[in-house]
Amino acid sequence: MMKRRGFLVLISLALIATVIAGCGGQKPAEQKPAEQKPAEPAKPAEPAEIKIGVVAPLTGDVATFGASTKNGAELAVKQVNDKGGVLGKKIVLVMEDDKNQPTETAAAVQKLITQDKVVAVVGSVASKCTLAGAPIAQANKVVMISGTSTNEKVTQVGDYVFRACFIDPFQGAVGAKFAFENLKAKSAACLFDVTNDYTKGLAEEFKKNFEKLGGKIVEYQTYNVGDQDFKPQLTKIKAKNPEVLYLSDYYNTVGLIAKQAREMGIKAALLGGDGWDSADLTKIGGPAIEGGYFSNHYSKDAKNPEAVEFLAAYTAAYKADPDALAALAYDATMILVDGMKRAGKIDSTAIKDALHQTKDFKAVSGNITIDPATRNPIKSATILKVQGGKFAFEAIVNP
Ligand code: PHE
Repeated sequence: MMKRRGFLVLISLALIATVIAGCGGQKPAEQKPAEQKPAEPAKPAEPAEIKIGVVAPLTGDVATFGASTKNGAELAVKQVNDKGGVLGKKIVLVMEDDKNQPTETAAAVQKLITQDKVVAVVGSVASKCTLAGAPIAQANKVVMISGTSTNEKVTQVGDYVFRACFIDPFQGAVGAKFAFENLKAKSAACLFDVTNDYTKGLAEEFKKNFEKLGGKIVEYQTYNVGDQDFKPQLTKIKAKNPEVLYLSDYYNTVGLIAKQAREMGIKAALLGGDGWDSADLTKIGGPAIEGGYFSNHYSKDAKNPEAVEFLAAYTAAYKADPDALAALAYDATMILVDGMKRAGKIDSTAIKDALHQTKDFKAVSGNITIDPATRNPIKSATILKVQGGKFAFEAIVNP
């Protein structure tokens, strides 16, 4: 009201001034041409919208990760825009496919920053990819937040790099504790991709923690990205007859290994990490993966209000159940939006500073407090069991 009245007073004064000037006698024709002011240097116009980049594997070997990430981020942005946007502006997403290849991630982040001039980047999914893109975001002082990259080194790249998920030292400890205490296993074997930061790092953490609890790692076998035949390594593992086989890779490779392990008569319980989370795991692994367990960030059975609302909105929009990747892309985007609101301006450094102060943010995947020293959230993990081709909630493990 006050503002409007002030505005009207101003208009009235301006009108009076014009009338008085008009009565002043000087005819317009006699007026000297107004002195030409030198043109002011054009200020960069405030962009009318907020551009956020998203980098995810929309194609390639783990394409379900990209599809879910896209869905989750788009749902978050739609909900924010429907409520009027952020600081009066609408968000626009610029989507980039990195094919789960680190060189592609680096190129995508570079393009988003220099060409699209995004204020922040959500992504990527795999740790090895985010590790390739993050130094570029950091060097350009652009905020980057991965929903899902769990390798510890990711946020160590610098103070502009964040994540919405827990880290692998925690995830490995959760897996080891579950194997030792819940499954009562005293022996385990690991089989992992040495070329993948996530796969290798998670196997190391599982081993360290399982041994600390008093368990024994009887085989520690590796392969390379793209390998399809795991029989040589599985033969060695079979000879040691471990109670648990820990598979820290993504769903596509885990499905293949599970099949070959069962064909060879390996009886060990199969256990792994968040990389298993895809509806395609059971398509590839079939009965071989049944009864397996994995640690994860999210279960569609979660009962916190944010998760209940998210599940309803997601299934309505996409006619499919969300997975952890969808939930974490949604959370990463919403954490970013929250940071923008608290920053009060669309400026990457101000947003970075606000994100360091994220406290008890009510996310779909649980409450998130970002540790400003490490930019890692502190949050619990969920254990899921593969049952009847679906993932059933098994347990929750707190940090
Ligand atoms: N944590 C995996 C990585 O860092 C990515 C991932 C997260 C995959 C969640 C599936 C589900 O590479």
